Amino acid sequence: RQNARESLYLVLNFAKNFYQQQLTQTDEGQSVGVSYFRERGFTSDIQKKFELGYSTDTWDALTKEALSKGYTADILLKAGLLIHKEGSQTAGYDRFRGRVIFPIHNVAGKVIAFGARILKTDKSQPKYLNSPETEVYHKSDILYGIFQAKNAIRQQEACYLVEGYTDVVSLHQAGIENVVASSGTSLTTEQIRLIGRFTPNITILYDGDMAGIKAALRGLDLVLEEGLNVSIVLFPDGEDPDSYVRRVGAEAFKDYLKKASRDFITFKTETLLQDAGNDPFRLAAVIGEVVNSIIKIPDAIKRQVFFHRTSEMMKVDEQMLISEGNKLLRKLH
Ligand code: UTP
Ligand code: MN
Ligand code: MN
Ligand code: MN
Ligand code: MN
Repeated sequence: RQNARESLYLVLNFAKNFYQQQLTQTDEGQSVGVSYFRERGFTSDIQKKFELGYSTDTWDALTKEALSKGYTADILLKAGLLIHKEGSQTAGYDRFRGRVIFPIHNVAGKVIAFGARILKTDKSQPKYLNSPETEVYHKSDILYGIFQAKNAIRQQEACYLVEGYTDVVSLHQAGIENVVASSGTSLTTEQIRLIGRFTPNITILYDGDMAGIKAALRGLDLVLEEGLNVSIVLFPDGEDPDSYVRRVGAEAFKDYLKKASRDFITFKTETLLQDAGNDPFRLAAVIGEVVNSIIKIPDAIKRQVFFHRTSEMMKVDEQMLISEGNKLLRKLH
């Protein structure tokens, strides 16, 4: 087992170096990959820091090079780098071709997987391809950027959670280094505990679209249950942290974070209230949902603060909320 994992780390590190070399040392890498990163405003320092790379538009450049260096097809397959042709045990092709490469590191800094972005988006291919689950890559256990962010998270006693690879890279470049990405999947308990190893304070910066907002509301009770303090910042429609920081600059971005940040319970209550309008049945449902979130908070004092706050927002009696909360809690236990 241990050896199997070690040999995966080795071939993944080899692939990372290969993609970096393809980016910086080949004509195609320069004219396509480097230009792409430059257009996005990524400096060469930030490209190095995140060990970004490029996979040339060929069928098997990586596989050929790896085989010639003594790596087996079997290990390439297990690392998710090689895909077998249908029905063939021998012939295959590289998973990542003609894409810019974002290596994904574990907390200790070892490369465990890759995200790979197509250069021009169209409907025929997914924008990002990611490594499959492997013996060293469990998507639901890891957050992109945690290795590069962990010291800053500890120092700032806060962590920003974004959706995408490029949000992480862009924010680092803007001097905001306490940031990790969920990579477009909904949050898991493992990912929340990973952040919780470094700080209890998490601010979620989701893309400014309805999907982003729904994603923010869904699954966040999980974060409360883990005892973390959750805040939310939404961006203007159609923007994400990467596009926003590039448009307004680092200082205005930081001001926006301060101004637009809401604790999760307040945010949820506001959003649900707006949705419900004046319909009494829907208002009753909102009250139930809000109470349901508040009781997930393990700390009794924090719970009390939120019962008080939301009773005012929803214009209902605080004692009624508390006794509803107690009823729900008794049902749970
Ligand atoms: P987004 O669509 O918001 O992409 O998906 P992005 O990060 O802003 O990328 P750019 O700016 O267009 O380059 C957020 C995240 O969801 C995952 C990726 O991790 C992406 O960063 N995703 C998205 C995929 O895995 N596959 C996809 O096809 C799209
Ligand atoms: Mn797992
Ligand atoms: Mn983006
Ligand atoms: Mn985005
Ligand atoms: Mn009170």
